[in-house]
Amino acid sequence: MAKEFVFTRDDFKEIQKVVAASSGINLGDHKFEMVYGRIARRLRATGLRTVKDYLSLIENNNLENIQFINAITTNLTYFFRENHHFEFLRKTVIPELVSKHTNDKRVRIWSAGCSTGEEPYSIALTLDEFLRKYATWDTKILATDLDTQVLEKARVGLYNDERVQSLSGDVKKNLFEMTKNGFRVKDRHRKTIFFKQLNLMHSWPMKGKFDVIFCRNVLIYFERSVQQALIDKFRQVLQPKGLLILGHSESIGAQAQHFEPLGKTIFRRKV
Ligand SMILES: C[S@@+](CC[C@H](N)C(=O)[O-])C[C@H]1O[C@@H](n2cnc3c(N)ncnc32)[C@H](O)[C@@H]1O
Repeated sequence: MAKEFVFTRDDFKEIQKVVAASSGINLGDHKFEMVYGRIARRLRATGLRTVKDYLSLIENNNLENIQFINAITTNLTYFFRENHHFEFLRKTVIPELVSKHTNDKRVRIWSAGCSTGEEPYSIALTLDEFLRKYATWDTKILATDLDTQVLEKARVGLYNDERVQSLSGDVKKNLFEMTKNGFRVKDRHRKTIFFKQLNLMHSWPMKGKFDVIFCRNVLIYFERSVQQALIDKFRQVLQPKGLLILGHSESIGAQAQHFEPLGKTIFRRKV
């Protein structure tokens, strides 16, 4: 069937360049059709007919540039994805945090590339007991994403049946309250999480260091050199012996010299 818009290999190459420069995302050649579908949506929304016109629009129009990046990102996520990471958090990390922070009582966890919020909310629920027991401690979960649309969904914390159907009754009961619009994350979990828009390619404004950084299924979209540079930056914002948790198909590469592998894509900063 003929395409609604002309989309040439050169158009695709231009998009690959713009996306890599602004977000670090490396759109492989096999993503041609996927990118066409997503750009076609933006062409329809803006009333433009060609990719060339669209690319000049986003150069000058910040709002459309945001829409463009939102359209390109892949946001697949789900609650307790790679559950062994949350088991590790519960069994190993929390007891360590308790002994490490008895004096300063300050705990920081970062979900970098949090998408629609399932990851930081899974972290919050895993910390629930700890948060109740050490309620006076300064414990915060920072959750960031480049994509403003998913971040807004994350902030609202409202999920439909399909998003929660695989969760156990206990998890559902503890994490959500039922509303007429769906499953809403309870206030006590939402208030420990600070959602912020952050492009990992830009400078990072946060000052304090993190005990644990989850950056799962994000690096996979970047060039190898970008992945390595980011892992190095993560190391610099980790506490000594802090933990970096990557997605199942991501690796630490040459940065391995600075981390101790703990298995299942969990890495401990050496010093
Ligand atoms: C596939 S989702 C992973 C979500 C979650 N971490 C998980 O594992 O289920 C990848 C997320 O990374 C975000 N992302 C992509 N490039 C980014 C960048 N340069 N800075 C920040 N976030 C980015 C996307 O918007 C998307 O929400």
